[in-house]
Amino acid sequence: MRIDTAAGSILCDPWVNPAYFASWFPFPDNSLLDWETLGDVDYLYVSHLHRDHFDAEHLKRFISKKATVLLPEYPTSQLEDELRELGFKSFLKTKSDEVHELDGGLKVMIQALISPTDGPIGDSSLWVEHDGVRVLNQNDARPTDLTRFNELGHVHAHMLQFSGAIWYPMVYELPEAAKTAFGKQKRDRQFDRTWRYIDDLKADHVFPIAGPPCFLDDTLWQFNDIFGDEGNIFPDQSVFMAEYAKVGGTNGIVLLPGSVTTLSDKSAETTHPVPVDEFFANKQQHLEEMRERKAPVIAAEKASWRHPEIDVLGAMKKRIEPLLEESLYMAQGVGGPVRFDLTDSFGPDGEIVESIVVDFPGKQVRPYADEKVRYRFKTGRALIEHLIHIDEGDWVNSLFLSCRFSAARIGQYNEYVYAFFKCLSEERLQYAEGWYDEHEKAVEAEDTVLGDWTVQRRCPHLKADLSRFGIVDGNVLTCQLHGWKFDLPSGRCLTSVGHKIRAEKTAE
Ligand code: FES
Repeated sequence: MRIDTAAGSILCDPWVNPAYFASWFPFPDNSLLDWETLGDVDYLYVSHLHRDHFDAEHLKRFISKKATVLLPEYPTSQLEDELRELGFKSFLKTKSDEVHELDGGLKVMIQALISPTDGPIGDSSLWVEHDGVRVLNQNDARPTDLTRFNELGHVHAHMLQFSGAIWYPMVYELPEAAKTAFGKQKRDRQFDRTWRYIDDLKADHVFPIAGPPCFLDDTLWQFNDIFGDEGNIFPDQSVFMAEYAKVGGTNGIVLLPGSVTTLSDKSAETTHPVPVDEFFANKQQHLEEMRERKAPVIAAEKASWRHPEIDVLGAMKKRIEPLLEESLYMAQGVGGPVRFDLTDSFGPDGEIVESIVVDFPGKQVRPYADEKVRYRFKTGRALIEHLIHIDEGDWVNSLFLSCRFSAARIGQYNEYVYAFFKCLSEERLQYAEGWYDEHEKAVEAEDTVLGDWTVQRRCPHLKADLSRFGIVDGNVLTCQLHGWKFDLPSGRCLTSVGHKIRAEKTAE
C-alpha cells in the first residue's frame, strides 16, 4: 500500500515476489503494476521481517534508496541491517507509541510489538496523520487493544488483517473431519478478532488487507479457498465483505492492485482497475492464469534448494546444540524430543532418507533412535539443506510458513517449539529467553476478580489484561484475545502446554 499526502508519500510493505520456498504469492497479482513509479517515494515502511512483507529482491530493484525508512523500535537490529544491505541509507528510528512529526506537518507513529510470538520477533502498525486525516495501517500486528491509536483522535481509515497466515491446521496429520473442524474454528476466530479490532477503533472506513496469500505450486494448490471448504483458513476479501455485512458492517472497502482511494475526513472515493465483484467472481480463473505465469518462477526457485553435499545432522548439531545449552525457558517449555523426518522430495511426501532428533531435555541433536517423541515434522531434506546453505536463523520465517511439511504431536499446541526454531541465532535466543524471564515475573504480579474467581490479572499467554479480556464460564476462563482457555480449579491451560494460571475461588 502506498499512502500519498501533500507532505510526502509512504510505501508500506511492498511484497511482490513469492515468499517461503516459493509457497506464498500475493493475490491478486501485483507484479504488473508500474513499480518504477510506485517505488519512487519519500518514505518506506517495512512493518516486519516476514518475507511476505519484506521482499528483499523487490526493495532492492524498485524502491528508491533516497527514501527515508520509518523504522519500528525493535529489540534486534536485523531489520535495519538487512535494509542497509539493500542500499537504504536514511533511517528514522521511531520510538514505539510516540508520534513523530516529519516535514510538511506529516505525523507518523509506529507501534512495535516485540514478544517472541509477534512476527519474527517483532511486528508493527503504522499510524499516519496529515491535514486532519488519520489512517491506521494495523497490518497483521495483534496489539492487545487499539487504545493508543484512539487517544490520538478519530481514525478515518483502518487497514487490517482478517485472513489466516499460518500452517495450522492444514499441515497436521489428522483425519480430514478433524482438520475441517479445527479450520472452521480458526476461520471463525479470525473474523471475531477482526470485528473486535474494528469495533475498538470505529474508523469511518475499513480496508481488509494483509492477506490472504495464494498458493500456486501444485502440491499446495488445495490451500486456496476455492473449493467451498468451510475449514479453509484463507478466506479472501470478498468473503470478508459478506461476513462483515452479517455483523452489520457497511463501511468496508476492498482494494485491488491499482485501486486508489481518495480519503478526506468526510469521505472515501475509490476507483478500481476492474470491478471488484467481477474480479472475485472469476477468482479461480485468475488463479489458474497466475499459476501458469508463475510456474517458471517456482521452477527456478526449486532448482536452487538441493545441496546434497551438506551434512545436515552435523550442521544442525553445530548450530542448535550451543543454543540448547543456553536455553532455559524455551528448552524447558518444549520439554521433549522433536523429530525431523527428512524426505527425498520438497515436502512431506516421498521416502524418508534421514531422521534427526532435536533432544531438548538432553540438549543434543542426534540421529533418531526409534524412541517416542511428542512432536514430529516431516519435510524435504532439500529444504533443510537450503536453510543451512543460506545460514537461516529463523525457520518459522522460511520452512514453517512455507507449509511444505507435515506435523504430528501428542497433546497440546506448544508455542515454545516454534519460538525456539525462530531463534536459531545467539542474538535472537538471548532476546527471547530474556523476554520469557520478564514475562514470567510480570504475569505473577497482580490479581483481578472475575465472577467467583480471583485470578492473576495478566493472561499467561501474552499478558492480555484479563479484567478486560477474561470471560468465566463455570470453571473455565477464556481469554478472548487469542481464545486460550484455562481450567480454574487446577490452573491448567487447556490450549497449550505450560502457561499455568494462578486462580483461587473467592470465598463465599
Ligand atoms: S493473551 Fe493470548 S490468549 Fe490471552
